Amino acid sequence: MSSQLDKVKELIELRAQARLGGGQKAIDKQHERGKYTARERIAQLLDEGSFEELDMFVTHRCHNFGQEKKVILGDGVVTGYGTIDGRLVYVFAQDFTVFGGSLSETLALKICKIMDMAMKMGAPVIGLNDSGGARIQEGINALAGYAEIFQRNIMASGVIPQISGILGPCAGGAVYSPALTDFTIMAKGISYMFLTGPKVVKTVTGEDVSQDALGGAEVHSSKSGVCHIAAEDGEDAIRIIRKLFSYLPQNNLEETPLVECNDPIDRLEDSLNEIIPESPNRPYDMYEVIGAIIDNGEFLEIQRDYAKNLIVGFARFNGQAVGIVANQPKYLAGVLDCNASRKGARFVRFCDAFNIPLVTLVDVPGFLPGTGQEYNGVILHGAKLLYAYGEATVPKVTVTLRKSYGGSHIVMSCKQLRGDMNYAWPTAEIAVMGGAGAVEVLYAKEAKEAEDPKKVLAEKEAEYNKLFCNPYNAAKYGYIDDVIEPRNTRFRVIRALQQLQTKKVTNPAKKHGNIPL
Ligand code: HXC
Repeated sequence: MSSQLDKVKELIELRAQARLGGGQKAIDKQHERGKYTARERIAQLLDEGSFEELDMFVTHRCHNFGQEKKVILGDGVVTGYGTIDGRLVYVFAQDFTVFGGSLSETLALKICKIMDMAMKMGAPVIGLNDSGGARIQEGINALAGYAEIFQRNIMASGVIPQISGILGPCAGGAVYSPALTDFTIMAKGISYMFLTGPKVVKTVTGEDVSQDALGGAEVHSSKSGVCHIAAEDGEDAIRIIRKLFSYLPQNNLEETPLVECNDPIDRLEDSLNEIIPESPNRPYDMYEVIGAIIDNGEFLEIQRDYAKNLIVGFARFNGQAVGIVANQPKYLAGVLDCNASRKGARFVRFCDAFNIPLVTLVDVPGFLPGTGQEYNGVILHGAKLLYAYGEATVPKVTVTLRKSYGGSHIVMSCKQLRGDMNYAWPTAEIAVMGGAGAVEVLYAKEAKEAEDPKKVLAEKEAEYNKLFCNPYNAAKYGYIDDVIEPRNTRFRVIRALQQLQTKKVTNPAKKHGNIPL
């Protein structure tokens, strides 16, 4: 019989063995690939010394292809809990040094265990993905494991925040777990996501494409919208995840953490009184407006390179986290199109699910016209954003800076979509459409018959602009709560948010709505 001390020694040895994962050689190879190991990543992610690892002694149960002879403690994923800035979070990090991080039945069970715990405790889950997909030797059991994870992703959606870091391969059906989570952060150069890899693409379509061109961070952050933030490398990805986490509540029943604010709430930004160009067709940069009004200019943008005509992201007003949604006049004149609508809708719904107030900055000339948009279902996509704003019950503060025309006026958090405080700058133009377009419709016949058609149209346009292209017409009906001085926007938004802190609105009981997907 061995003594207690021997048993403790054995435990220490087993722990050391588990911590080595697939062994030193595999760790070195991981480093050579420019990647950190699962444990190194967790150490970067969590507060120092806060990680409590679970299931270190779990091993796979596969007896196919000689697998029974290759048993590694922990089996390809490191799981547990810890804190970020003192707040509880559950984590899993796939360990590429063990069978390429491929997903076995037991590996899936480890992930499911911490997801179940996160749901019980009401804390976010962060998953760091770096895996060759389903463990081929395990066949259908690996697929079942994925499905167990997906089901949990779905149940956790809207209850606890879920963040995915993609820090290596993530291919095949494995992509669906990140896709079901709230945010996907990819690291440039080392990560890729696709349903079918370059070889299958070549066989099926004849297309020659590299892994990076098919599913790298740049592609997914600019073309597909799958990636919410593209980080420079693995370390940067983890830094971004920590930052993102700081804006989120623990769960759907809690508020976001308040941060001490050293930026004066009544700071006047004189530049905003002059930012709108004389000509309505000249753009300005909405980033300048956002930066000028939020706390310390600190903005965490989501999907920066996708549908740049709509800016979405997190910021704080007087220490309170908010979601910002803003048209960008500098890109496609700030129109709404299919991609911008989908991007906005998903962000608005996230904020609403997690009690994050919405601040909407409006300068939108309308929806992008044309067959390209119509064939791609801009009606349905636009309706998504409309639906998202209309169902949202969080505090909604809207500021119209310049254009707000037609359907896009309604969609961008107007009063009748239960906008709580709707402000406008004196430069706002809230109308059915712009002056030039309106007189074309109303006076085309009259102009044609006139001696000087241009003069007639110009006169009518001036008349129309005077009547409609201002904020006072909407304010007259109470559709705008106040016309505010641009330089005072920060203060007015903060006041509005303070007032709305006790807002309580509930939607009718239902199983779930039928958002036009
Ligand atoms: C078992 C795997 C594996 C897998 C990698 N490995 N993927 N073992 N099942 N899916 C093992 C390798 O055999 C190797 O073991 C080690 O992990 C490291 O892999 P390498 O190939 O040496 O690494 P690298 O060159 O960086 O290439 C990484 C890779 C490649 C691109 C991911 O390994 C690869 O193509 N793997 C297969 C990917 C795949 O087709 N997966 C199934 C997809 S279908 P040794 O012992 O040599 O170190 C799928 C369905 C999911 O996932 C459906 C969910 C609904």
